[in-house]
Amino acid sequence: MGVVRNLRQVAADDVGVDIAFRADVHAGLAQRRKAIPARWFYDATGSALFEDITALPEYYPTRSETDLLTRHAADIASAIGPGRAVVELGSGSSTKTPLLLDAIAPAAYVPVDISGDFLRDSAQALAARFPAVPIYPVEADFTQRVELPREICPLPKLGFFPGSTIGNMVARTAIDLLRNWRATLGDGSMMLIGVDRIKDIGILERAYDDPTGVTAAFNLNLLERINRELGGDIAVENFSHRAVWDDVHARVEMHLVAACDMDFTIDGRAYHMAKGETIHSENSHKYGARDANLLLRAGGWTPIATWDDADPAFALILAEATEFRSAP
Ligand code: TRP
Repeated sequence: MGVVRNLRQVAADDVGVDIAFRADVHAGLAQRRKAIPARWFYDATGSALFEDITALPEYYPTRSETDLLTRHAADIASAIGPGRAVVELGSGSSTKTPLLLDAIAPAAYVPVDISGDFLRDSAQALAARFPAVPIYPVEADFTQRVELPREICPLPKLGFFPGSTIGNMVARTAIDLLRNWRATLGDGSMMLIGVDRIKDIGILERAYDDPTGVTAAFNLNLLERINRELGGDIAVENFSHRAVWDDVHARVEMHLVAACDMDFTIDGRAYHMAKGETIHSENSHKYGARDANLLLRAGGWTPIATWDDADPAFALILAEATEFRSAP
């Protein structure tokens, strides 16, 4: 079977730079409180740095989630059942995927990722490991509406959204995304989603600001990418990485902090930053058990099982597409 074909759904202009990247950077830096959407972290360098993050001793989410998938594989498989097309949102290197595919006897696998090179490499590796499962990679931004390969149309779907990526969205955006995927995956579909829990602030902050500086390099790469791809002249060495817990929003915020007053240009457009001013580059929201269930229900998904006995805490939640019916 192997990798069947590659569907590309990302727009690029004539120099090969993503049109949306350029637009997002300018729009984000023109604001009074500067911010750049986190999806632009993931060029080839950023994706590789992110893989390094997942191996850090301080970065527990990957370990906790892998532990849950491993220990509860049989339970998860019996709750999901065989024969589904697994659609993974933001598959990256697909390292957790084999744990799921091994357990559930899927009918197809559809990795969706914005990083095309990464997507192709990991799809090849999975094809070798699961020769009986057809793989249909889709190069797309899973936060936008994605068109699924028509080959999986008749199959029941399982959305797989690990890594607490849902936590990287503010509640409103997270709910939009869940509703969107509820519509895309359709009636009778399920979603297996990884959600990080609220816990000790020290554990949380260290996970996003490790002593070896890998997370800092990941954050700063966003500025390097702007310089590389958008012709920027940002003095990256004058920025530092900051990760802080915000209890009101129940999230770890990541910022790029200006060490001094500075001026720079991107695409010839001028920007100024004052000493101490920041570019907000990422949020990682954390959820209690009821918060997570509420979020899913608001997005059109009914939670049916939760596995959350890892340490540090993390939750894998299985939900089914809420049936729309007349009811209070
Ligand atoms: N979704 C994961 C998390 O919030 C991974 C992640 C996204 C991340 N952006 C990050 C991890 C930035 C470290 C730094 O934990």
